[in-house]
Amino acid sequence: MSFEALKPQVENIISNTKKTVDERLLNICELLESHIAHYNWVGFYFSNKQKEVLHLGPYVGAPTDHTVIPFGKGICGQVALSNENFVVPDVAAQDNYIACSITVKSEIVVPIFVNGENIGQIDIDSNTRDPFTTADERFLEFVTKQVAQLLSKN
Ligand code: SME
Repeated sequence: MSFEALKPQVENIISNTKKTVDERLLNICELLESHIAHYNWVGFYFSNKQKEVLHLGPYVGAPTDHTVIPFGKGICGQVALSNENFVVPDVAAQDNYIACSITVKSEIVVPIFVNGENIGQIDIDSNTRDPFTTADERFLEFVTKQVAQLLSKN
């Protein structure tokens, strides 16, 4: 399914007040993982700024041991500090990378900003090498803005 076709579905999930925030975030993960062929693990990490760690939130895909990631460690930990998208075409070429599964070939992480503050991120792993384009970045920025709206109301 195209990114454009998925956007209204993302909006529908976000606006479903019958569900908790975590249920809605999980539904977003399920939507993306099931409709985008190169998204094989989709999850959220959220920052604890005092402890300088990320905590795993709702996700879909293989269970991971990396439920707590220090700022600066791995792709996710780097995005917690850089406040910028991080597209990794080939995880084997990264020195500062935390492997969750041997099947993963590439990764994209996009930060979530609430009132200008980087409060967490969406993390996608792919079993395909170099699958991500600027279209993925624009789509995931749309998703993270929707998630930011949801979180800012709670
Ligand atoms: N690969 C990530 C760790 C999280 S897993 O992909 C679920 C990283 O290097 O930060």
